[in-house]
Amino acid sequence: MKDLLDYTSNKNHDEKRQGEALNVILQSSDIKNNKHFYIESYGCQMNFSDSEIVASILSNQGYGITSDIFKADLVLLNTCSIREKAEQTVRTRLRSINEIKQQRPGMLIGVLGCMAERLKSKFLEEEKLVDIVVGPDAYRSLPELLEDAQDGQKGVNVLLSREETYADISPVRLDKNGIIAFISIMRGCDNMCSFCVVPFTRGRERSRDPKSILAEAKDLFEKGYKEVTLLGQNVDSYKWKGEEKHQEKEAEVLLNFAQLLESIAKINPLLRVRFSTSHPKDITDEVLHTIAKYENICNNIHLPVQSGNSACLERMNRNYDSAWYKERIDAIKSIIPDCGISSDIITGFCGETEEEHQDTLSMMKYVQYDYSYMFYYSERPGTLAARKYQDDVPEDEKKRRLTQVVDLQYQLSLQSNLRDIGKTFKVLIEKVSKKDTNEWAGRNSQNKTIIFPKENYKIGQYVNVLVETANKAMLKGVVVSLADDNL
Ligand code: 5AD
Ligand code: SF4
Repeated sequence: MKDLLDYTSNKNHDEKRQGEALNVILQSSDIKNNKHFYIESYGCQMNFSDSEIVASILSNQGYGITSDIFKADLVLLNTCSIREKAEQTVRTRLRSINEIKQQRPGMLIGVLGCMAERLKSKFLEEEKLVDIVVGPDAYRSLPELLEDAQDGQKGVNVLLSREETYADISPVRLDKNGIIAFISIMRGCDNMCSFCVVPFTRGRERSRDPKSILAEAKDLFEKGYKEVTLLGQNVDSYKWKGEEKHQEKEAEVLLNFAQLLESIAKINPLLRVRFSTSHPKDITDEVLHTIAKYENICNNIHLPVQSGNSACLERMNRNYDSAWYKERIDAIKSIIPDCGISSDIITGFCGETEEEHQDTLSMMKYVQYDYSYMFYYSERPGTLAARKYQDDVPEDEKKRRLTQVVDLQYQLSLQSNLRDIGKTFKVLIEKVSKKDTNEWAGRNSQNKTIIFPKENYKIGQYVNVLVETANKAMLKGVVVSLADDNL
């Protein structure tokens, strides 16, 4: 049977993303110390975005970037702790990197991100696999930690911060295509979903100064980028209260998420805007109306349900019930009729009964998700659930339920894609199709991948594509015209 661990219908949250990340070759004049670093990112988009901050900090120190691990003086893994499997993958990778180090004795190995935060100095002391350990809020201290490590001392900084947003750091874009970029708008999470380790690894929620967000988006557009994705663990709770008043609970909110979204959309109609992730308890009608008002804000909302059953949601500490979630879905469908909707779903959470599981399947049918990221529950040490509930659904049962959820999602995705045959969508051309080099791949506003013959079109153009065929993963079609925006 196919391994269902962390199985998703689309792409895997724990997937390693490397290679593409390493194609920014800094000008040789920037490489002052003749040293090179190599970085691999695991987990969520936030980690990927953080790697770009790290690249910026290191390039200011004179480091060049390399995509060849055998040429690296410094190897960094930006890690994820969300499920046990993600951590196992990193451990295995660290062991193989240590074998490379045997041939390159001066090479330093660093662990960044959530695993660094969760395991702190365990890597250095017990496992002796790494030279530096740096948590998500401590990347500014990388230069000093590297100096320590070069002098033979181990470098650790896992301090979490209530203020750090790296607002003033210009990320070095690691994605080579120059069309799509991620902008981090907030850090941390205050939600304390009982299954989730993120509040412990990424700390308290804080919003980034909107001036710096806007400046970053404008700069990207001027450099030719056509799409930005605003990132946060819970973007709907973005709030800017001014520099000083930031920590004060009662202070007046000067800018909320809907207003931030609008200001980014106004930069230029040719700049598409996406965002992730929304929280069902916080997503407002104001946000929905803002999406509906601007053609360049994509009609796509990732609204993780986690479970379709209210008692299970209560144990998950999600702060909404299934009726509330359905009401939010109804609001999305009435305000943005052609909105793509996706979800995260966990099967076999503590105490989940067969009836509760069936409610998740019913919820999926109610919403008709276009795609979902689906996981079986993996207990994380220190979380609310680990302390309060028994991880009592046997692994086989978790996997059986996951198979049902995945099978249903495949059906829903296929139905959703088949409904698009005969429709024409505006698509931003992003890259060459993986399956056929004569075809382009791009996405429509709803975040569906569309493949079509290249003809004479170019990456970065918007084209209108008529959908002719579909499967559960993608749409295929032909360009009927260049979208007006290019003219
Ligand atoms: N076990 C399984 N899945 C989890 N997620 C978060 N924590 C866990 C866990 N302990 C999933 C949630 C979340 C997504 C990013 O990962 O569905 O939305
Ligand atoms: Fe984790 Fe919940 Fe925060 Fe998402 S909203 S990061 S699932 S605690």
